[in-house]
Amino acid sequence: MSVGSILILPGDGIGPEVMAEVRRIIDWYADKRDLSFDVSEDLVGGAAYDKHGVPLADETMAKAQEVDAVLLGAVGGPKYDDLDFSVKPERGLLRLRKEMDLFSNLRPAQCFDALAHFSSLKEEVIAGLDIMIVRELTSGVYFGEPRGIFEEGNERVGINTQRYTESEIDRVARSAFELAMKRDKRLCSMEKANVMESGILWREIVTEVARDYPEVELSHMYADAGAMQLTRWPKQFDVIVTDNLFGDILSDVAAMLTGSLGMLPSASLGAPMENGRPKALYEPVHGSAPDIAGQGKANPIACITSFAMALRYSFDLGEEADRLEAAVETVLADGKRTADLLGDEGVTPVSTSDMGDAILAALDASL
Ligand code: IPM
Ligand code: MG
Repeated sequence: MSVGSILILPGDGIGPEVMAEVRRIIDWYADKRDLSFDVSEDLVGGAAYDKHGVPLADETMAKAQEVDAVLLGAVGGPKYDDLDFSVKPERGLLRLRKEMDLFSNLRPAQCFDALAHFSSLKEEVIAGLDIMIVRELTSGVYFGEPRGIFEEGNERVGINTQRYTESEIDRVARSAFELAMKRDKRLCSMEKANVMESGILWREIVTEVARDYPEVELSHMYADAGAMQLTRWPKQFDVIVTDNLFGDILSDVAAMLTGSLGMLPSASLGAPMENGRPKALYEPVHGSAPDIAGQGKANPIACITSFAMALRYSFDLGEEADRLEAAVETVLADGKRTADLLGDEGVTPVSTSDMGDAILAALDASL
């Protein structure tokens, strides 16, 4: 029996090669755990543009709305840099987020013990780090109107609008409080209430929502101070909730704390569907890395642990997600490294598929 449906969108650059390793993991679950998924595959980003002239075809959008989970690789590449803004690869991803209404973007930053020395920060600052950034993903300056480049007098003006409604803040705040309840029960909300009205409203609504979660200790920080604290002593945080743009920036900071962008997964969740599962899209935090695409050098771990998040959040298979994450940890502890994780003396890098092999072997050993 099928556990549920998955739409795979490998995308561009290293997307297809890291996603190939995820497919092997999915097959492993069918063979060894009797958990089979109904998997289909389609195009997004530049790959979709090449075929359809748009970064996401309407039929693909419709499919994404129907499945239990979408797994996305990465989008973009230099080949598409000069395209009109409206058909750039990134627009495909933004359309998925917006039309599926995936308002809550979970970006965990965890430091694997075996990699603590890869961080640009001191090992003691980073060892054991386990924080979760909840980024609002469907509103704010990414989508606010008016936007555009307009003529004003004898020059042009570029305009984007930061805009948040009470209900948009309320729903993402609730998802962050719910997560905090399952973790260390500490939530830090970040905005710029000192200069932005949208930040004042953000702080007010988050404070109101906190009344429904008396067990969670809520704090507030200006986003710039938050960035500073993230690099000074990141372990002070448990869950962070913030808006779309600050979340974009802060999550890159948090990702790099752990040593490599190639390690971090994400989940973007919306409202529950009829079957009770949330609308969901899972993707690595890293981009399409066109400089190394097609060479078997990419690290598939972020894409694989994104699938682990799908097991946990879409399919209620938390124990299987733990199994997969533990397999990744074992492989790293054994010293396996893709090229992004070099620096340890005497270690030669393994290829993308070697890393996949090693994770599959660790999964076998877990049975
Ligand atoms: C991210 C990326 C995207 C964003 C880009 C690719 C549109 O940076 O997911 O963090 O800005 O949201
Ligand atoms: Mg980003």
